[in-house]
Amino acid sequence: MSALPRVAADTPPVRARDATKVYVASGAEPVRALDAVSLEVAAGEMVALVGPSGCGKSTLLNLIGCVDLPTSGAIEVAGAATSSLRDNDLTRLRREAVGTVFQFFNLLPAMTIGENVALPLILQRRPRAEIAKRLQAALDSVDIADKADAYPSQVSGGQLQRAAIARATIHAPSIVLADEPTGNLDSHNGAAVLRLLRTFASRGQAILMATHAIEATAVCDRIIRMQDGRIVG
Ligand SMILES: Nc1ncnc2c1ncn2[C@@H]1O[C@H](COP(=O)(O)OP(=O)(O)O)[C@@H](O)[C@H]1O
Ligand SMILES: [Mg+2]
Repeated sequence: MSALPRVAADTPPVRARDATKVYVASGAEPVRALDAVSLEVAAGEMVALVGPSGCGKSTLLNLIGCVDLPTSGAIEVAGAATSSLRDNDLTRLRREAVGTVFQFFNLLPAMTIGENVALPLILQRRPRAEIAKRLQAALDSVDIADKADAYPSQVSGGQLQRAAIARATIHAPSIVLADEPTGNLDSHNGAAVLRLLRTFASRGQAILMATHAIEATAVCDRIIRMQDGRIVG
């Protein structure tokens, strides 16, 4: 596997340049979900992405999260243009540089909370002892150390989302993406999630969060507004 490019200290963790995504399905009109979007998110910055349903927020997060590629334009993650990477380097970039938190938590039901949280390190084939140590720290950081052996069906929604945050950050990614992370939580648990994300920003990670919630935008450093696939302010 070729080495990922070395990242200069002033390289923003996230950069989009005229990123455009057109979904083409057979028998349907092509959908221009993203239309020439350019943005940067700096290390330590927490940015809210807002706009009506269907405006392209999740599409943009998927491109930055290296789960999909732009149709044209460029997405740069930790200095690497995702479209220029070979598949295995793209997978490696996603596993090392990005962590994602979803609205519906997306924990694997057949694995314990501890196994779910450790997954990014397991996929990176880190040594067992290192995984155990970092798992403990990750569970402690979101206050669910006593739930390590429980299954997702056995814990509350707030605990599930804290576990999802631990999983998204255990490998110290430079970018944390959050797609409506408080959308399925009550205000108390939602506030806890926002505090945690804020903590990660203060440690130098770049946070990009799609949200509808006023409370969520209020804790961000900057708000990017989207409409019809474009940034409008
Ligand atoms: N896999 C897909 N195939 C076809 N169209 C899609 C796909 N994903 C999203 N879209 C369309 O792209 C547009 C943007 O969707 P999305 O990024 O999910 O918006 P948001 O997250 O802001 O609600 C919408 O019109 C949506 O229907
Ligand atoms: Mg969405």
